[in-house]
Amino acid sequence: MDTAEKYLNLLSAGKALIDKNVDDIANMANLSQLITEHFPHHWVGFYRVFGDNLILGPFQGPIACTSIAFGKGVCGKTWETQTTQIVDNVHKFPGHIACSALSNSEIVIPCIRDKKVFAVLDIDSTDFGTFSQIDKEYLEELVSYL
Ligand code: SME
Repeated sequence: MDTAEKYLNLLSAGKALIDKNVDDIANMANLSQLITEHFPHHWVGFYRVFGDNLILGPFQGPIACTSIAFGKGVCGKTWETQTTQIVDNVHKFPGHIACSALSNSEIVIPCIRDKKVFAVLDIDSTDFGTFSQIDKEYLEELVSYL
């Protein structure tokens, strides 16, 4: 199965799984596991906006930083710019926050509701240059179901 086919499966499962009538935590918990089942990356999870910080939400993977300030790291930059960040080499990203020494590339997608970022989806890989425009396109679609 190629990447696009895997993403199409992921999207249809995601759409069926997400229940708009429950708290975001429940949907994010299932989505982080669902993404991991299709793409077993090093770390897959959400940070949610509370005031001036992103606070750790549901995730799959090693223990991570609990709080990230607006504009800081790849996650904070995603919140600030409201745009997906693809980082081929996290060691070259100014201000990258290294929660795990094993992460080498990363993609962070903003979750937007009523034109505001309410969370970000963060995926880390142990390989360099893992993520592309294909990941961006499908993952943006996935988080739009939240
Ligand atoms: N690397 C992220 C921090 C979150 S962890 O990767 C789970 C960043 O620079 O924002």
